[in-house]
Amino acid sequence: PDRYVVIGNPVAHSKSPEIHAWFARETGQNIRYDRLLAPVDGFRAAVREFIAAGGRGANVTVPFKLEAHALSDELSARARAAGAVNTLRFEDGRILGDNTDGVGLVNDIVCNAGIPLSGRRILLLGAGGAARGVILPILAQAPAQLRVANRTAGKAEDLAREFDAEGPVSGSGYEVLESAFDIVINATSASLGDALPPIPPAVFAPGAFAYDMMYGREATVFMRFAAEHGASVRDGLGMLVEQAAESFALWRGVRPHTAELLADLRTRL
Ligand code: ATR
Repeated sequence: PDRYVVIGNPVAHSKSPEIHAWFARETGQNIRYDRLLAPVDGFRAAVREFIAAGGRGANVTVPFKLEAHALSDELSARARAAGAVNTLRFEDGRILGDNTDGVGLVNDIVCNAGIPLSGRRILLLGAGGAARGVILPILAQAPAQLRVANRTAGKAEDLAREFDAEGPVSGSGYEVLESAFDIVINATSASLGDALPPIPPAVFAPGAFAYDMMYGREATVFMRFAAEHGASVRDGLGMLVEQAAESFALWRGVRPHTAELLADLRTRL
């Protein structure tokens, strides 16, 4: 079988091997997909070794996404925009870097949740790596407006400016948020510490949709806050599955179905 890995540190918790094994069964592809724990200072060596052993591709997770970007001989437009790589393809001695996180988010919202982004007012919370990675794919959906808001307002303003040419995007702090949004996406790491970005409840338009890129057995504090203010909510488990599906499609040229797997993972969180 063709070999793939997820490289990270830590990586023991990664659901990627299980997800890709499921995709392989579903599409009848003969692959082997393992976890690869690389030392924090040993990412490049681990990749070279895996290529030498015949590896065909890799997913890259914390803390190596920036290094994977730097290591790539060739970058997709979305990986360049994200400034980070989560998917590597090894082909004829070259390392091709891509980023499927943003498309994974968009596909989970648009296809799985059935919420179109086109023409909508979208608020993106956070201006770190997770936020950066989804801006281009969101703008590609032609929203009416994308506001990036962050605790450190200057970071959001700078980030928005970088994507100026791609669509109607602006940046600000949280305090100045006054208008309502149809879709609010949490790309901060605040949920990890059970914290909530200080957003005014008025950001949720009637019938708003709120998305947290984090997931867990329980709803995050952001999801609870959004629900209290009338929004319908969704966590990031579907994004995890969809970014994997996009990587799988890139490697294998076939797109797996995801609904059944997503439902199954949900029962085992
Ligand atoms: P990631 O790769 O997950 O995006 P990151 O690049 O470190 O990680 O970015 C973390 C993001 O979460 C930032 O937008 C950060 O806000 P600041 O830029 O102001 O630091 C945001 N964040 C983290 N903890 C937060 C909290 N308790 N409240 C609000 N925002 C928070």
